[in-house]
Amino acid sequence: MTEDHSHNDPDIKRAEDVVARVLARSKKRAQLAYAESAKTPDIPLASQATSLQSTRGQTENSAGALEREARRGTRRVESLSTELEDVSEVEYRQVRLERVVLVGIYEDDEGAAENSLHELAALAETAGSKVLDGVLQRRMAPDPATYLGSGKAKELARIVASVGADTVIVDGELAPSQRRGLEDVVKVKVVDRTALILDIFAQHAKSREGKAQVELAQLEYLLPRLRGWGESMSRQAGGRVAGGEGIGSRGPGETKIELDRRRIHQRMSKLRKQIKGMKPSRETQRQNRRAGHVPSVAIVGYTNAGKSTLLNRLTDADVMVQDALFATLDPTVRQAETPEHRLYTLVDTVGFVRNLPTQLVEAFRSTLEEVADADVILHVVDAAHPDPMGQVRTVHEVLADIEGALDIPELIALNKADLASPEQIAILRSQIPNSVAISAATGAGIEDLRRQISDMLPRPAKHVDVVIPYDHGDLVHRFHETGEIDFEEYLPAGTHLVGRVDAGLAFDLSDVDAS
Ligand code: GTP
Repeated sequence: MTEDHSHNDPDIKRAEDVVARVLARSKKRAQLAYAESAKTPDIPLASQATSLQSTRGQTENSAGALEREARRGTRRVESLSTELEDVSEVEYRQVRLERVVLVGIYEDDEGAAENSLHELAALAETAGSKVLDGVLQRRMAPDPATYLGSGKAKELARIVASVGADTVIVDGELAPSQRRGLEDVVKVKVVDRTALILDIFAQHAKSREGKAQVELAQLEYLLPRLRGWGESMSRQAGGRVAGGEGIGSRGPGETKIELDRRRIHQRMSKLRKQIKGMKPSRETQRQNRRAGHVPSVAIVGYTNAGKSTLLNRLTDADVMVQDALFATLDPTVRQAETPEHRLYTLVDTVGFVRNLPTQLVEAFRSTLEEVADADVILHVVDAAHPDPMGQVRTVHEVLADIEGALDIPELIALNKADLASPEQIAILRSQIPNSVAISAATGAGIEDLRRQISDMLPRPAKHVDVVIPYDHGDLVHRFHETGEIDFEEYLPAGTHLVGRVDAGLAFDLSDVDAS
């Protein structure tokens, strides 16, 4: 049909745009989009939807389309305004979510499926979307054609239409054909959990390595789905869903796909090389820190457990805290002090998540490596969560995969004690021997936690009794920051200090000792 043919060019163009966006990252364009978005007043969701519709099926120059999309993207993540510079670099603008309905299936444990769907809802909100409804279906395995059984899929279509959703998010991984199959029934776009998490990671990656890791993960995800993308783009561009002939053939041709594949492979190997090149500097940083013998504590925990809030409590750090999952992607190292004023570092890590997509495991490596290097693991648990023990198990499973991590002493902070019932706290404390109940928000229990951290830090190796001449104030300072002081007095010859220090300081002190 001529009408179909008239859509051919824009369809391919849009599919090309997706690939182009993944491959090309222009800082300049990002800044431009940001400046533009700052000028654009907020418009209600309904008219955004209209503007979305009106761009479909039109032939647009790709710069204009990109800019429009960038603006749409920035509006959707208002609450993350400090991160806008990253937002326009997000690749999956095509799956940027707006008003969503969630779907999950379960075999027998309905409670677990519900929890998982709640988590998916929190993830979706983190990505900037509004969750309107959720649907669970009990079935042995996902339907190979439409994920849900056909009856449930139709019911889902009715829900989607009645609440006015524009996206369905599936709590699992979808084969490209399942995604297309379900899209054909529900008539709005369908994305899976991996795409959603990738989207959030792309918004939150801060460091060069973090960004490179996430881009690599995105490309890995995109590669086997190239054909699917093309087809789904065509459907959107055509302003209608599948049902007629020729839909599949309106995606980019095989040659085009092959070309994209090659370009993606090239980009991936370049990224891998870059990431490899970044490793030594991190390694050096870590060695420098260790050379100073400053003990380190790694904060780990399930997403949204309150790690950043606790980090702020324990340090003066101004780490951004928001009621959104994955506020932290890159390792954040801050300085903290024991009640005895010994210095240690606190390393924040990205939150753990159930069923972490395999493509993302590498993206966490930098964080995980920091954990393996810590002297103490401070494991933050949301005590008010419906299934805190499940979260603890997940974290322990992941830690078990990190070489050396299980040998590191662990302290569990039962956080959000202000929200949990005293009975729940009591049960958890009996289930988890080495735990402290705290509220990072109110500060309750924090002093106790500080003391316990201090007790678990490695003790400096050498006992010394020295008099440090007054012209060696730097050594007194180091003693205060890194040593344990049992006794201190001021004598005519200098500062008399008795306590424990590390071997390096003990050596330097022996050089100047005036006792
Ligand atoms: P990710 O970076 O996403 O892994 O999250 P996180 O573990 O760093 O959590 P974050 O500190 O961002 O806290 C998540 C939400 O829980 C925020 O809204 C906090 O205000 C809230 N929160 C943290 N600690 C407490 C607490 O002790 N009590 C209460 N009531 N809320 C808390």
